[in-house]
Amino acid sequence: MFSGRETVDWHEYLAQFHREHVGAIEELLQRIESGGRTPYAWLSRAVSESSRTVLDLACGTGAVARELARPGRTVIGVDMSAHELAEARRRSPEGTFLRADARHLPLRDASMQAVVSSFGFAVVRPMPQLAKEVDRVLAPGGVVAIISPSWQSLRLHDIPAISKFLSVLHDTPHFPRRAPSPGLPHLFAAHGIRKVEDARERYTYTVRNREDAERLLEAIYLPGVAASRISAAIDSLTQSAHRRPVRITVPMRRFVGIK
Ligand SMILES: C[S@@+](CC[C@H](N)C(=O)[O-])C[C@H]1O[C@@H](n2cnc3c(N)ncnc32)[C@H](O)[C@@H]1O
Repeated sequence: MFSGRETVDWHEYLAQFHREHVGAIEELLQRIESGGRTPYAWLSRAVSESSRTVLDLACGTGAVARELARPGRTVIGVDMSAHELAEARRRSPEGTFLRADARHLPLRDASMQAVVSSFGFAVVRPMPQLAKEVDRVLAPGGVVAIISPSWQSLRLHDIPAISKFLSVLHDTPHFPRRAPSPGLPHLFAAHGIRKVEDARERYTYTVRNREDAERLLEAIYLPGVAASRISAAIDSLTQSAHRRPVRITVPMRRFVGIK
Protein backbone atom coordinates (compact mmCIF):
# COMPACT_ATOMS: atom_id res chain seq x y z
CA MET A 1 0.00 0.00 0.00
CA PHE A 2 1.15 3.54 -0.86
CA SER A 3 4.33 2.24 -2.44
CA GLY A 4 6.00 3.72 -5.52
CA ARG A 5 5.49 2.65 -9.12
CA GLU A 6 8.25 1.67 -11.42
CA THR A 7 6.61 2.64 -14.71
CA VAL A 8 5.86 6.30 -13.89
CA ASP A 9 8.04 9.05 -15.33
CA TRP A 10 8.13 10.84 -11.99
CA HIS A 11 10.13 13.81 -13.25
CA GLU A 12 7.41 14.56 -15.81
CA TYR A 13 4.55 13.69 -13.43
CA LEU A 14 5.80 15.96 -10.63
CA ALA A 15 6.45 18.86 -13.03
CA GLN A 16 2.89 18.58 -14.38
CA PHE A 17 1.28 18.00 -10.98
CA HIS A 18 2.92 21.07 -9.46
CA ARG A 19 2.04 23.14 -12.54
CA GLU A 20 -1.63 22.14 -12.39
CA HIS A 21 -2.15 21.86 -8.61
CA VAL A 22 -0.28 24.91 -7.34
CA GLY A 23 -0.73 25.30 -3.58
CA ALA A 24 -2.77 22.09 -3.25
CA ILE A 25 -0.32 20.37 -0.88
CA GLU A 26 -0.24 23.37 1.46
CA GLU A 27 -4.05 23.69 1.32
CA LEU A 28 -4.27 20.13 2.64
CA LEU A 29 -1.40 20.15 5.15
CA GLN A 30 -2.63 23.38 6.74
CA ARG A 31 -5.86 21.51 7.54
CA ILE A 32 -4.29 18.32 8.84
CA GLU A 33 -3.89 18.55 12.58
CA SER A 34 -2.85 16.81 15.73
CA GLY A 35 -3.67 18.53 19.02
CA GLY A 36 -4.53 21.69 17.09
CA ARG A 37 -1.14 21.87 15.34
CA THR A 38 -0.26 21.29 11.71
CA PRO A 39 2.68 19.16 10.52
CA TYR A 40 4.34 22.41 9.42
CA ALA A 41 4.31 23.64 13.02
CA TRP A 42 5.76 20.30 14.21
CA LEU A 43 8.59 20.54 11.70
CA SER A 44 9.32 24.18 12.50
CA ARG A 45 9.62 23.49 16.22
CA ALA A 46 12.74 21.40 15.51
CA VAL A 47 14.65 24.54 14.52
CA SER A 48 16.38 26.45 17.28
CA GLU A 49 15.59 30.15 17.67
CA SER A 50 19.32 30.80 17.36
CA SER A 51 19.53 29.43 13.78
CA ARG A 52 20.33 32.40 11.59
CA THR A 53 20.35 30.66 8.20
CA VAL A 54 17.65 28.14 7.33
CA LEU A 55 16.99 26.25 4.11
CA ASP A 56 13.48 24.99 3.30
CA LEU A 57 14.17 22.19 0.83
CA ALA A 58 11.47 21.41 -1.78
CA CYS A 59 9.56 24.32 -0.28
CA GLY A 60 6.52 24.34 -2.61
CA THR A 61 4.49 27.43 -1.74
CA GLY A 62 6.79 28.17 1.20
CA ALA A 63 4.60 27.23 4.17
CA VAL A 64 7.55 26.14 6.33
CA ALA A 65 9.69 29.09 5.25
CA ARG A 66 6.89 31.37 6.45
CA GLU A 67 6.61 29.53 9.79
CA LEU A 68 10.33 29.97 10.31
CA ALA A 69 10.68 33.60 9.24
CA ARG A 70 12.09 35.77 12.06
CA PRO A 71 13.78 39.16 12.20
CA GLY A 72 17.52 38.65 11.76
CA ARG A 73 17.15 35.17 10.23
CA THR A 74 17.61 34.34 6.54
CA VAL A 75 15.27 31.64 5.30
CA ILE A 76 15.81 30.37 1.77
CA GLY A 77 13.20 28.25 0.03
CA VAL A 78 14.31 26.03 -2.86
CA ASP A 79 12.03 24.17 -5.22
CA MET A 80 12.08 22.83 -8.75
CA SER A 81 8.60 24.08 -9.68
CA ALA A 82 8.47 27.62 -11.08
CA HIS A 83 4.71 27.59 -10.52
CA GLU A 84 4.84 26.70 -6.82
CA LEU A 85 7.64 29.25 -6.34
CA ALA A 86 5.63 32.02 -8.01
CA GLU A 87 2.88 31.37 -5.46
CA ALA A 88 5.44 31.26 -2.62
CA ARG A 89 6.73 34.70 -3.69
CA ARG A 90 3.18 36.04 -3.94
CA ARG A 91 2.45 34.84 -0.37
CA SER A 92 5.78 36.08 1.03
CA PRO A 93 7.03 38.97 -1.14
CA GLU A 94 9.86 39.54 1.34
CA GLY A 95 11.01 35.89 1.23
CA THR A 96 13.95 34.42 -0.70
CA PHE A 97 12.93 31.63 -3.05
CA LEU A 98 15.26 29.98 -5.53
CA ARG A 99 14.42 27.66 -8.38
CA ALA A 100 16.85 24.76 -8.24
CA ASP A 101 17.16 21.02 -8.06
CA ALA A 102 17.50 19.99 -4.42
CA ARG A 103 20.30 17.62 -5.45
CA HIS A 104 22.38 20.55 -6.79
CA LEU A 105 21.82 23.48 -4.47
CA PRO A 106 23.06 26.90 -5.49
CA LEU A 107 24.40 27.44 -1.96
CA ARG A 108 27.88 27.54 -0.48
CA ASP A 109 29.32 24.69 1.58
CA ALA A 110 28.41 24.87 5.28
CA SER A 111 26.27 27.99 4.72
CA MET A 112 23.08 26.81 6.47
CA GLN A 113 22.56 26.37 10.22
CA ALA A 114 19.36 24.40 9.64
CA VAL A 115 17.91 22.47 6.72
CA VAL A 116 14.23 21.56 6.89
CA SER A 117 12.01 19.73 4.48
CA SER A 118 8.33 18.91 4.47
CA PHE A 119 7.91 15.89 2.17
CA GLY A 120 11.12 16.62 0.21
CA PHE A 121 12.58 13.26 1.27
CA ALA A 122 9.35 11.53 0.18
CA VAL A 123 9.69 12.94 -3.31
CA VAL A 124 13.27 13.71 -4.36
CA ARG A 125 15.29 10.72 -5.56
CA PRO A 126 17.83 9.33 -5.16
CA MET A 127 17.81 9.93 -1.40
CA PRO A 128 21.53 9.31 -0.86
CA GLN A 129 22.33 12.13 -3.31
CA LEU A 130 19.91 14.42 -1.50
CA ALA A 131 21.40 13.56 1.90
CA LYS A 132 24.89 14.25 0.53
CA GLU A 133 23.83 17.68 -0.72
CA VAL A 134 22.15 18.49 2.60
CA ASP A 135 25.37 17.56 4.34
CA ARG A 136 27.39 19.80 1.99
CA VAL A 137 25.37 22.95 2.74
CA LEU A 138 24.87 22.24 6.46
CA ALA A 139 27.27 23.96 8.87
CA PRO A 140 28.94 21.95 11.64
CA GLY A 141 26.54 21.88 14.60
CA GLY A 142 23.62 22.47 12.21
CA VAL A 143 20.28 20.69 12.35
CA VAL A 144 18.42 18.78 9.70
CA ALA A 145 14.69 18.27 10.26
CA ILE A 146 12.41 16.36 7.94
CA ILE A 147 8.77 15.35 7.94
CA SER A 148 7.42 12.64 5.67
CA PRO A 149 4.27 10.54 5.58
CA SER A 150 4.68 7.32 7.53
CA TRP A 151 2.11 4.94 6.06
CA GLN A 152 3.58 1.97 7.92
CA SER A 153 2.15 3.57 11.07
CA LEU A 154 -1.45 3.21 9.83
CA ARG A 155 -3.41 0.98 12.22
CA LEU A 156 -6.19 -1.44 11.47
CA HIS A 157 -8.88 0.90 12.77
CA ASP A 158 -7.64 3.67 10.42
CA ILE A 159 -8.47 1.58 7.37
CA PRO A 160 -12.32 1.73 7.16
CA ALA A 161 -12.36 5.52 6.71
CA ILE A 162 -10.08 5.35 3.70
CA SER A 163 -10.90 1.96 2.22
CA LYS A 164 -14.24 2.98 0.70
CA PHE A 165 -12.97 5.89 -1.36
CA LEU A 166 -9.76 4.05 -2.25
CA SER A 167 -11.82 1.16 -3.58
CA VAL A 168 -13.77 3.60 -5.78
CA LEU A 169 -10.47 5.14 -6.87
CA HIS A 170 -9.16 1.64 -7.66
CA ASP A 171 -5.75 2.87 -6.55
CA THR A 172 -3.73 4.37 -3.71
CA PRO A 173 -1.63 7.53 -3.46
CA HIS A 174 1.95 7.04 -4.59
CA PHE A 175 5.36 8.56 -4.09
CA PRO A 176 8.43 8.05 -6.26
CA ARG A 177 9.90 4.66 -5.62
CA ARG A 178 12.77 4.52 -3.19
CA ALA A 179 15.72 2.33 -4.07
CA PRO A 180 16.51 -0.07 -1.23
CA SER A 181 18.45 2.11 1.19
CA PRO A 182 19.49 1.87 4.81
CA GLY A 183 16.87 4.42 5.97
CA LEU A 184 17.21 8.02 7.09
CA PRO A 185 19.22 7.52 10.31
CA HIS A 186 21.89 5.47 8.53
CA LEU A 187 21.82 7.66 5.44
CA PHE A 188 22.68 10.72 7.52
CA ALA A 189 25.01 8.88 9.87
CA ALA A 190 27.18 8.14 6.81
CA HIS A 191 27.72 11.92 6.63
CA GLY A 192 28.35 12.40 10.32
CA ILE A 193 24.81 13.67 10.96
CA ARG A 194 23.61 12.01 14.15
CA LYS A 195 19.96 11.17 14.80
CA VAL A 196 18.53 13.07 17.76
CA GLU A 197 14.89 12.20 17.12
CA ASP A 198 12.87 9.86 14.93
CA ALA A 199 9.26 10.30 16.02
CA ARG A 200 5.82 9.41 14.70
CA GLU A 201 2.70 11.51 15.13
CA ARG A 202 -0.82 10.74 13.97
CA TYR A 203 -2.55 13.59 12.16
CA THR A 204 -6.19 13.80 11.10
CA TYR A 205 -7.85 15.28 8.07
CA THR A 206 -11.60 15.68 8.45
CA VAL A 207 -13.90 15.54 5.45
CA ARG A 208 -17.21 17.28 6.17
CA ASN A 209 -18.31 18.25 2.67
CA ARG A 210 -17.48 18.11 -1.04
CA GLU A 211 -14.94 20.91 -0.75
CA ASP A 212 -12.96 18.91 1.82
CA ALA A 213 -13.11 15.82 -0.40
CA GLU A 214 -11.94 17.79 -3.44
CA ARG A 215 -9.08 19.33 -1.46
CA LEU A 216 -7.85 15.87 -0.45
CA LEU A 217 -8.01 14.37 -3.93
CA GLU A 218 -6.41 17.48 -5.42
CA ALA A 219 -3.35 17.10 -3.19
CA ILE A 220 -2.40 13.46 -3.63
CA TYR A 221 -0.15 11.98 -6.27
CA LEU A 222 -2.21 9.59 -8.38
CA PRO A 223 -0.18 8.91 -11.53
CA GLY A 224 -2.16 7.11 -14.22
CA VAL A 225 -5.53 7.37 -12.44
CA ALA A 226 -8.38 8.49 -14.74
CA ALA A 227 -10.14 11.77 -13.94
CA SER A 228 -13.47 9.88 -13.85
CA ARG A 229 -12.20 7.70 -10.99
CA ILE A 230 -11.03 10.74 -9.05
CA SER A 231 -14.49 12.34 -9.49
CA ALA A 232 -16.13 9.10 -8.35
CA ALA A 233 -13.90 9.02 -5.25
CA ILE A 234 -14.85 12.63 -4.44
CA ASP A 235 -18.55 11.72 -4.81
CA SER A 236 -18.14 8.69 -2.57
CA LEU A 237 -16.32 10.62 0.15
CA THR A 238 -18.87 13.44 -0.02
CA GLN A 239 -21.74 10.98 0.40
CA SER A 240 -20.08 9.36 3.40
CA ALA A 241 -19.43 12.79 4.92
CA HIS A 242 -23.12 13.68 4.61
CA ARG A 243 -23.87 10.93 7.13
CA ARG A 244 -21.03 11.86 9.49
CA PRO A 245 -17.60 13.53 9.13
CA VAL A 246 -14.97 11.18 7.71
CA ARG A 247 -11.78 11.38 9.76
CA ILE A 248 -8.75 10.30 7.78
CA THR A 249 -5.60 9.44 9.68
CA VAL A 250 -2.37 10.74 8.17
CA PRO A 251 0.58 9.33 10.12
CA MET A 252 3.72 11.44 9.94
CA ARG A 253 7.34 10.96 10.83
CA ARG A 254 9.72 13.66 12.05
CA PHE A 255 13.41 12.93 11.76
CA VAL A 256 15.86 15.35 13.35
CA GLY A 257 19.62 15.08 13.04
CA ILE A 258 22.55 17.16 14.17
CA LYS A 259 25.89 17.53 12.41
C1 LIG B 1 4.87 17.14 -1.70
S1 LIG B 1 5.44 18.72 -2.26
C2 LIG B 1 5.86 19.49 -0.72
C3 LIG B 1 5.89 21.01 -0.81
C4 LIG B 1 6.14 21.73 0.52
N1 LIG B 1 7.37 21.32 1.15
C5 LIG B 1 4.98 21.53 1.46
O1 LIG B 1 5.04 20.61 2.31
O2 LIG B 1 3.99 22.27 1.36
C6 LIG B 1 7.02 18.31 -2.94
C7 LIG B 1 7.77 19.48 -3.57
O3 LIG B 1 9.04 18.99 -4.05
C8 LIG B 1 9.35 19.70 -5.23
N2 LIG B 1 10.39 18.93 -5.91
C9 LIG B 1 10.28 17.73 -6.51
N3 LIG B 1 11.48 17.32 -6.96
C10 LIG B 1 12.36 18.29 -6.65
C11 LIG B 1 13.76 18.45 -6.82
N4 LIG B 1 14.49 17.51 -7.42
N5 LIG B 1 14.35 19.57 -6.36
C12 LIG B 1 13.61 20.54 -5.75
N6 LIG B 1 12.28 20.44 -5.54
C13 LIG B 1 11.67 19.33 -5.98
C14 LIG B 1 8.03 19.82 -5.95
O4 LIG B 1 8.05 20.83 -6.93
C15 LIG B 1 7.09 20.11 -4.78
O5 LIG B 1 6.92 21.50 -4.58
